Amino acid sequence: SKGAAMVTAVAYRLAEQSRQIVQTLAEFLLTKEQLLEVKNRMKTEIQNGLSKATHETATVKMLPTFVCSTPDGTENGDFLALDLGGTNFRVLLVKIRSGKRRSVEMHNKIYAIPIEVMQGTGEELFDHIVHCISDFLDYMGMKNTRLPLGFTFSFPCKQTSLDAGILLTWTKGFKATDCEGEDVVGLLREGIKRREEFDLDVVAVVNDTVGTMMTCAYEEPTCEVGLIAGTGSNACYMEEMRNIEMVDGDTGRMCVNMEWGAFGDNGCLDDIRTQYDVAVDELSLNAGKQRYEKMCSGMYLGEIVRNILIDLTKRGFLFRGQISETLKTRGIFETKFLSQIESDRLALLQVRSILQHLGLDSTCDDSIIVKEVCGTVSRRAAQICGAGMAAVVDKIRENRGLDHLDITVGVDGTLYKLHPHFSRIMHQTVMELAPKCDVNFLLSEDGSGKGAALITAVGCRIRQQEQN
Ligand code: GLC
Repeated sequence: SKGAAMVTAVAYRLAEQSRQIVQTLAEFLLTKEQLLEVKNRMKTEIQNGLSKATHETATVKMLPTFVCSTPDGTENGDFLALDLGGTNFRVLLVKIRSGKRRSVEMHNKIYAIPIEVMQGTGEELFDHIVHCISDFLDYMGMKNTRLPLGFTFSFPCKQTSLDAGILLTWTKGFKATDCEGEDVVGLLREGIKRREEFDLDVVAVVNDTVGTMMTCAYEEPTCEVGLIAGTGSNACYMEEMRNIEMVDGDTGRMCVNMEWGAFGDNGCLDDIRTQYDVAVDELSLNAGKQRYEKMCSGMYLGEIVRNILIDLTKRGFLFRGQISETLKTRGIFETKFLSQIESDRLALLQVRSILQHLGLDSTCDDSIIVKEVCGTVSRRAAQICGAGMAAVVDKIRENRGLDHLDITVGVDGTLYKLHPHFSRIMHQTVMELAPKCDVNFLLSEDGSGKGAALITAVGCRIRQQEQN
């Protein structure tokens, strides 16, 4: 009959539609072999970054940090810390007490960095930072003390000492002019001078991964790796001095800031990048750079999702084929929304209300598809992040000539902390890809600020020893 024919036609169309959606998302599913391949390529890039002969052209830079030991509990004093480059800009006062009843007390204030400051001139950016410090010192009533300061600056810096770091390139949402190629500690000191209101003793410039590792190591001495899965993605770990060919000396260890976000910038991940990854990269502030980061960090996951949704809508599978203004807007899917959409406790109706809140009118079927897309993208992110971490812990194990390694990784970042599945999938992937390592993940509370203060404390101690 005619009715039956129509039902068959509709059923056929629906089946064809879901086949095409499944096919679209299939590109994001990685086999264990593919993930092992990612791990092995990361190992190769680590080696390229460490060796003198290949360092110059290496994508994963393996930057020396001049942090040569983890805390030992003797750190003591009052320190100022700045934290720039994550979700928030913060100024902190950190009071560290050593001895039997060691403790860390912190006071902090969060400040906004308007997008026009992030992407204005370097002078405006540093004037703004110094303005915030001034406000904080007023608030704490400490304008007249010359405090030692640790500057957590979460961007790739070429360091020649603990207190000097040349910005190699901006990453994430920053693009202030006249900073690349400059020593950011110098820029900060000049900003403080220009204001003529207070003086500070800048002792250390610190990557957030290193701050996170140090904070966790303060509680747990087996912590020798730091990981950030947040706005950006990066890791650091204690490498053998003899392997760091860019620094003189062969004894002991030094923490290296891997800057693994740039993994893939030489094309070595092209076989797993999808058309959506390519689109996100090309529309970003730093096209061609930080390709791994753009597949696995909070600033970009939502953008990948948005690009897939636009494509599915164009093909008539979503939102009744209508691409709304909202869907055309960059940055709508922040980590917190993805996390909400993927929460298992959320009914589909609530997913629809989140989409509604974002200005997206969805049917029930739409919301199922959106949730599926989010889950696929964030699962791949967690897996490739895990593959990178598997390379790191295996490298440490091999460095030490061990058949088995027990190690702790200090972790921070909004994606790791807020997302309902990211951490679990990441842990599981590390376990599968690095079976000879037992990896314990330790969440760092307030990692970058506290860590900067701990490193500053060590820096002050070393300076005193040198003076004596
Ligand atoms: C970006 C930065 C890196 C930082 C990471 C996490 O990858 O280049 O320095 O550690 O984001 O914030």
